[in-house]
Parts: sequence; C-alpha cells; structure tokens
Amino acid sequence: MVLSLQDKRVLLIIGGGIAAYKSLDLIRRLKERGAAVVPVLTKAGQEFVTPLSVSALSGDKVYTDLFDLTDEAEMGHINLSRSADLVLVAPATADLMAKMANGLANDLASTLLLATDTPVLIAPAMNVRMWDHPATQRNIPTLQADGVTFVGPNEGDMACGEYGPGRMSEPLEIVAAVEAALTNGPLKGKRILVTSGPTHEPIDPVRYIANRSSGAQGTAIAAGLRDLGAEVVFVTGPADVAPPAGVHVVPVETAQQMRDAVMAALPCDASVFAAAVADWRVDNASSSKMKKTKTGLPVLEFAENPDILAEVSQLETGRPPLVVGFAAETDDVIAHATAKRLRKGCDWILANDVSPETGIMGGSENAVVLISEAGAEPWDRMSKTDVARALAARIAKDLQKDET
Ligand code: CTP
Repeated sequence: MVLSLQDKRVLLIIGGGIAAYKSLDLIRRLKERGAAVVPVLTKAGQEFVTPLSVSALSGDKVYTDLFDLTDEAEMGHINLSRSADLVLVAPATADLMAKMANGLANDLASTLLLATDTPVLIAPAMNVRMWDHPATQRNIPTLQADGVTFVGPNEGDMACGEYGPGRMSEPLEIVAAVEAALTNGPLKGKRILVTSGPTHEPIDPVRYIANRSSGAQGTAIAAGLRDLGAEVVFVTGPADVAPPAGVHVVPVETAQQMRDAVMAALPCDASVFAAAVADWRVDNASSSKMKKTKTGLPVLEFAENPDILAEVSQLETGRPPLVVGFAAETDDVIAHATAKRLRKGCDWILANDVSPETGIMGGSENAVVLISEAGAEPWDRMSKTDVARALAARIAKDLQKDET
C-alpha cells in the first residue's frame, strides 16, 4: 500500500444520512494510506453510526458538540477547523450543503465549515429529489464559487428505492478525490475533458451498432490527468473497463449524447478525445422491437453523426486552448493522421495502428505517434497506462508553457 496521504490530516465531518455507514470504511481507507482522520459526527449522523465505532476506527476522539467545554479547553473549534490539511464532508447532506452555502453556524459541523481556512471537499448523498430540488441545485454553484470541491454524487439505486443521482461516491472514489485535493501536481486547478469508450447506436430498443473499443486508453488518460492534479470531466460511452475514481463521470450511450455532454462540459483548459465515436447512426431506428417478417429483411438507413472533435476544434468561442484527438488507422498511419489533424483542426493527434495483428484495439498496450504542428514523433510501444502518463505529462508541460 502506497502511503499517499502520509502526514496528512483530514477533518472528516459525517453528516446524517444512510450513506454514513460508508464513512466507516472511508476512515479505514484514509488511514491505511497514512492519513490521520479527526472525526466530527453531527447530531443526525449519530442516528446512523455511533461515536464509539467512529472513534474506534479513527483512533481519535470524536467531536460532536459545539458547546463541549472540555473540547474548548483542549482545542477550540477555531483551532479544530484549521488543524487539518483538508476538511472532508461525507456524507454531505442537503441540509449541510444548504448551511454551508448560506453561512449558517448553529452546530459544530457548520461552525467548523464556516471557520475553516483549509480546502473543503464534499461527497453529497441524498434522495434524488432532494438533489434535483432547485434549492440544492442553487447551492451547488454557490459552493463551487466558494472553492468547495465535489466528489459525486453517483447515479444509481438509492436506499429509499428510487433511482438517480444522489448516491454517495464509494470510499475509494472519495480517497482518490482526497489524494487529488492534497497533491500539488502540475495540473492542479486545470479542468480537462476526456471522451472515452465506444458509442452504441440503436437499431431498435434491444439492438445496437457498436465497435470494439474497450475504453482502456481513455480511462488510463483520465486517471493520468487526475494523478497530476487535474479536475477531469470524463464523458464515456458504454466501456468494458470501469471509469477511474476521483473524476467527474458523465455516462452516455450515443454519439449525439456524447456531443451534447461535451458541449455542456465546456469551458475547459484542455480536452482529449479518446472515444471511438460511431461515424453513423441508424436514421430509421425503430421505437419498438423489429420482428422477423415474411416480407423480407429490414433495411437500415444511416445518417452521419456529429464529428465532436472537429466541432470542438473549430469553435469560434470557447475552444479549449489544447485539443487532442486520436486517429485509429490501419494503413499509412502517419500520412492519414497528419491529414486528419488538419481536417479536424485539433492541435495534436495521437495516431495508432489498429490493424488486428497489432493487438492494440482491446489490448493493454499501445504504440502511438504524436502528430503536432512540429511534425510526427513516434513513441515506443508501451502499456496504455504509460502512454496515458506520458500524454498527461506532455499536456502539463504545454499548459505551463502558455502561462509563462
Ligand atoms: N471523433 C469524434 N466524433 C466523431 C468521430 C470521431 O469526436 N463522430 C474523434 C475521435 O474521438 C478521435 C478522432 O475523432 O479522437 C478520430 O477518430 P477516427 O475514428 O480515427 O476518425 P474519423 O473521424 O472516423 O475519420 P476516418 O473515417 O477518416 O478514419
């Protein structure tokens, strides 16, 4: 286990929600990476987990009450709020978010959040309607403008039986966000968009056209950028590999949905288009399942999908300062990719040979050529993770160059 959080002190505020049980695992995960965890349990939080289990796992005293005079003598709430490298709120309930957004300080947790001068990371968890409520939605940009960073919420089945956004991120996702918040990588403060995976183009409600992209390269790139401190928006089609922890995941299915999600994610400092987007969709897709008939075979008509990379590269306003595309080719790789870079208008193209004998599509290695204005630069064949790290480092260098 890498002690990635050695010497870091995390003040963990546990709010009152069913997701509070995950905070116990979260404490364990943070501690095994070397962090000291100082727990604060709200009154409502105590309805879900006990102070005893929290303090047993953290190995520290649990703070619960603003007016505990012993605590004030030992460590006042102002000191407590500033003694950490990071304040983490998990679960962050709708109530805690509302208090934070409005500067209320009527219990220990909200007082600490108002008094702190250290970075704050929150992992929201609430019923989907509470998350979608205009009041909560109003509070999100307010908190972001105050410098609060978010991990999650995720979409999925909720304890209350409903489905949608509102589930607290898993402990390992929160740990990755803590690591990102506490590292001072060269991409700290940069927002980077990554597309990944295949797209699925429906034929009817049960059938679709897809491609062999596993999403492995795009996923590795998102993780590589995150590891250098970037805030990553990860727009992914239905991939085989799970999205990385600690990035903002936007799941999509079709090319058109991917295009809309990409546009909604702008502006950003850099963008990497690693998705294998279907060039065509079925224009006469059926809204009900197509049946075998005696009258003959179905005829599919195709329409061209939006070229997302070209559209973003050619934006007149809001074009990311760095746009990176991929070129999957089977012959004349450099010539085709060079022409593709000019045709689409992106800054760099990572070209790779996806002929079946290379084993690259769906495999764990990649051999790319970086095509830029300066020409073609072949990279050694290496793992997709190493390609991702090399690309992330290259992006960091390029963005720093723009700042000097
Ligand atoms: N791309 C995109 N939107 C599309 C098609 C492709 O954003 N509708 C992006 C891919 O993510 C990749 C790059 O464009 O970064 C090149 O994809 P590729 O499939 O190699 O190129 P095509 O546009 O399909 O060109 P061609 O048919 O000439 O190979």
